[in-house]
Amino acid sequence: YSDRSTDYYELSVRPGVAEILPGVQTNVITYNGSFPGPTIKARRGRAVKVAVTNRLQTPSAVHLHGGIVPQDSDGHPLDVIQPGKHRVYHYPNDQRAATLWYHDHAHHLEAEQIYKGLCGLYLIEDRKDAPSLPKGQFDIPLMFRDIALDDKGQLLWAIFDGQRRNTVLVNGVPQPVLKVRRRKYRLRLVNTSNERMFSFRLSNGGEFVQVATDGGLMARPVRRTEISLWPAERVEVVVDFSKQRGGTKIMLTNANGGDVASTSQIMQFEVIDGIRRDAPDNDDSEVPPKLSVLPAIGAPVMMTRKVVLSFDAKNMVFLINGKPYDPHRIDYTVKRGSTEIWEVTNADPDPIPHSLHVHVVQFRVLDRNGKAVEPWEAYPKDTVSIPAGETVRLLIRFDAPYTGVFPFHCHFVDHSSVAMMAQMRIV
Ligand code: C2O
Ligand code: CU
Ligand code: CU
Repeated sequence: YSDRSTDYYELSVRPGVAEILPGVQTNVITYNGSFPGPTIKARRGRAVKVAVTNRLQTPSAVHLHGGIVPQDSDGHPLDVIQPGKHRVYHYPNDQRAATLWYHDHAHHLEAEQIYKGLCGLYLIEDRKDAPSLPKGQFDIPLMFRDIALDDKGQLLWAIFDGQRRNTVLVNGVPQPVLKVRRRKYRLRLVNTSNERMFSFRLSNGGEFVQVATDGGLMARPVRRTEISLWPAERVEVVVDFSKQRGGTKIMLTNANGGDVASTSQIMQFEVIDGIRRDAPDNDDSEVPPKLSVLPAIGAPVMMTRKVVLSFDAKNMVFLINGKPYDPHRIDYTVKRGSTEIWEVTNADPDPIPHSLHVHVVQFRVLDRNGKAVEPWEAYPKDTVSIPAGETVRLLIRFDAPYTGVFPFHCHFVDHSSVAMMAQMRIV
């Protein structure tokens, strides 16, 4: 392959096995045999081509979540790779550095196929971005997802089966122990679950210094002791272990996890001594008070739209604006370069949580039920939680240089694959 200005990756979508429980071979589906899929590293401004071969019996589409990509590389639900076929996706990476992820998006199949393993990380890096943050081996992605296992250690799959999915995996393994040195770490938290909402804390009451959201670095860091992370959201934090003694064990807990250890005690950090037993590591990393300069969304708002999320209990389908997804219908026509406000309401009478993810943009969350949001939601995001009864306003600038049909949907993928999706045509 000769094009030197483009990085090239190959993914083969195929059945595989994962050792989720020690000594047990669990049947999964994979990218390149890996569960979850391999991490793709991209550099801002340098294009990536991903050549995908589908070796499943079902169609598959690869979607780069959070990516600003042309329509023919977006993985529209009908734009699938049929079994045995091959295609190349083009990712320009002409966007801010951020923690993105790629996952299956085949019509009606994404919930099952993501659940069984079709997701992986995609990191866009920019050397000029806050270079003093912890890096290299001290920059660690943690992908969270819940699954249900039967007594033979095989995956149980059913839609809307959140109750039974009581094993939480971190990078494919339940309750791992991560040995950390006495210094700062950058942790990239990614929730790839179909439906599970996490609320993370550190068992020692320690602080997360949040530095990034879905769309990359925030302008300034924010200190938090609890981080809620809904499906498809990403949060990057710096955690400082330098004050801990060697041997200290700190749990990453999930305050939403109930009484069960497998869903409330997510993983453990075990602090180990570095070169000098009695002192923290030399650590020249730091979190600067100013992380990034964010482009203002200055343009006048051309349009306000109301997006209503609801559930039709009689037909067991989820709806956007009263309609189930029709991949041939255009729900909105949006002008490229324009700025809009989307007023998103969770109108469910039953308290069912939803979210909204919009392809090909990074938006700002303005307010929730009229109240200004916390700073970490005001930074660029592509997925936003919409709890029952809430109305959330998004400021969206359609500044991608691409036209065509792009979906938006609830990112509880058990909902989106049962019709909680709509689409816009950008003209
Ligand atoms: Cu992460 Cu259309 O999805
Ligand atoms: Cu997406
Ligand atoms: Cu939903």
